Amino acid sequence: MKLYIKHFVILVILCLTACSAADVWKPIAGGENLTTDSSWACTGWIDVADSVLNIGAGDEFRAYLNTFGPRVQAAGDFGVAATISADAANLAAFSLVGKVGVGDWWNEVNKLDVGLEEGAVVVNFYDGKGFMPRVAQSFPAEGLTGQVQLELRRLGKELIVRVNGKEIGRLEDPGIMPDGWAYFGASVRPHNTLHIHKLSVLAPPDSAGVAVLTGADSAYTPTDPPLRDLADARGIYIGGAVEPHYLRCAPVYGEVLGREFNILVAENAFKFWSLHPGADRYTFGGADAIVEFAEAHSMKVRGHTLLWHQSMPEWIEKATFTPQQWERVIHDHIATVVARYKGRVAYWDVINEAINDSAAGGTLRQTVWSDGLGPDFIDKAFIWAHEADPDALLFYNDYGAEGMGGKSDQVYTLVKGLLERGVPIHGVGLQMHLSLGTAPKPEDVRRNIQRLAELGLQVHITELDVRLPSNASADFFEAQARMYREYLDACLAFENCTAFVLWGFTDRYSWIPNFQPGFDHALIFDKEYRPKPAYFALRDALNMPQSLGPEDFGASCNCGN
Ligand code: XIL
Repeated sequence: MKLYIKHFVILVILCLTACSAADVWKPIAGGENLTTDSSWACTGWIDVADSVLNIGAGDEFRAYLNTFGPRVQAAGDFGVAATISADAANLAAFSLVGKVGVGDWWNEVNKLDVGLEEGAVVVNFYDGKGFMPRVAQSFPAEGLTGQVQLELRRLGKELIVRVNGKEIGRLEDPGIMPDGWAYFGASVRPHNTLHIHKLSVLAPPDSAGVAVLTGADSAYTPTDPPLRDLADARGIYIGGAVEPHYLRCAPVYGEVLGREFNILVAENAFKFWSLHPGADRYTFGGADAIVEFAEAHSMKVRGHTLLWHQSMPEWIEKATFTPQQWERVIHDHIATVVARYKGRVAYWDVINEAINDSAAGGTLRQTVWSDGLGPDFIDKAFIWAHEADPDALLFYNDYGAEGMGGKSDQVYTLVKGLLERGVPIHGVGLQMHLSLGTAPKPEDVRRNIQRLAELGLQVHITELDVRLPSNASADFFEAQARMYREYLDACLAFENCTAFVLWGFTDRYSWIPNFQPGFDHALIFDKEYRPKPAYFALRDALNMPQSLGPEDFGASCNCGN
């Protein structure tokens, strides 16, 4: 009998060990705690204190993705454990992003959010084809206050959700890692802050198929001569739009930028919401970093933009000021920003996109600025900018007004009127966000540059990109190269066309895939910083003593859009 009991006890102990062993998924080497990775702080979006990631949403839905940081790679079973807490009851989730449109923007990505919302654990899956989740599940659970350990395991074809060590639900894996890896990120609803205290990558017992890859930047092989050397020789500035966090976190990005270009513009860092997020609060960090980079690399800076009807903070959008208050607020913004960069920002897009599209009659667009200050807000903005830095050259910038036609006629009339009234304006920016099927005729661009020259104005090409279908074949890249070349030739043909600026420079970080779904490849370096045919086309154009006309080119590609 005694022997029997002894055996029974041994059996129970064995079973307990074996049964719980199946449950023991451990952090893999290098995956013990990813919050300590330096990339999180580098981004500038996330406050990191003692290795805790504090991700505040402010007024916006914040979906953040760290493409500079570590990735989890797994062919089969793997897990992620996140110890999180949230300040409010609305959504605060960590994300696994298995496919990236580009950069760190959030739409058009394949993304799984796992987090807390209204007293439950939620799992939302986005497949990159729309704004709504394809799978949205909510699992009620106990113990969701304070620090909560959320764990997601992929086991075979299922996803298992666990809270504080206990399973609370399962769902079919909707395809969270189409390419076998995922970046980390977070999704936080307005006025909530997510705190990620710990983030680990787990593997089941005896698994060797899970790894953490570091967020290394791409390799880059420079080609000679750099575009900027040729541009210097031609007396023109050539450049691209930049983001400060790429400068900070992606060393190759800065290397290519500083080597190839002699002018830059901030893609977002000088916009109203970046610089002036609260009525009494200016944030100059990103803009300063860009200006400092430019100075360190002997580059000019275009300041984009003082007044635009987009990218505005909530305190402006929802403001109910009197006309006098509007005047004070806008004057304060322009005077403060322009004075801060006096002598350092050579050109300002004082007004961006103030004219309606041709379809709407090319009239003045109704915006908070025109409502608040009245139609002479444009005159005032130029005057105030000029007062703050009399040496800066001031531009009106718009899209769809590059060639000849209704909208460019309106721009022409507007700037002519400004000049006649003695308003200090020095140039017009032609944005040029183009596709193969929606592009102004190069000869029309020339005519437009010519008539602006006759007014005594400079012209800058300010935001050129030529988007291609995501699955574009070699033909498309050649046609794109021809377009880049034709517009640079057009600019080079006129003394008053003094800068040729692209909206980015590498397809790795371009706004196109997120804002124009189905399109990509709009710039002159590919996602691995390899120069594309468009790069060589610009180089050829700069190399030619005389610029070429359309007749010098072969038949253009009938590639559609
Ligand atoms: C775009 C940026 O590229 C995006 O990152 C941002 O989210 C929205 O603005 N015309 C302009 C630019 O003048 O400021 C816009 O930039 C693109 C269209």
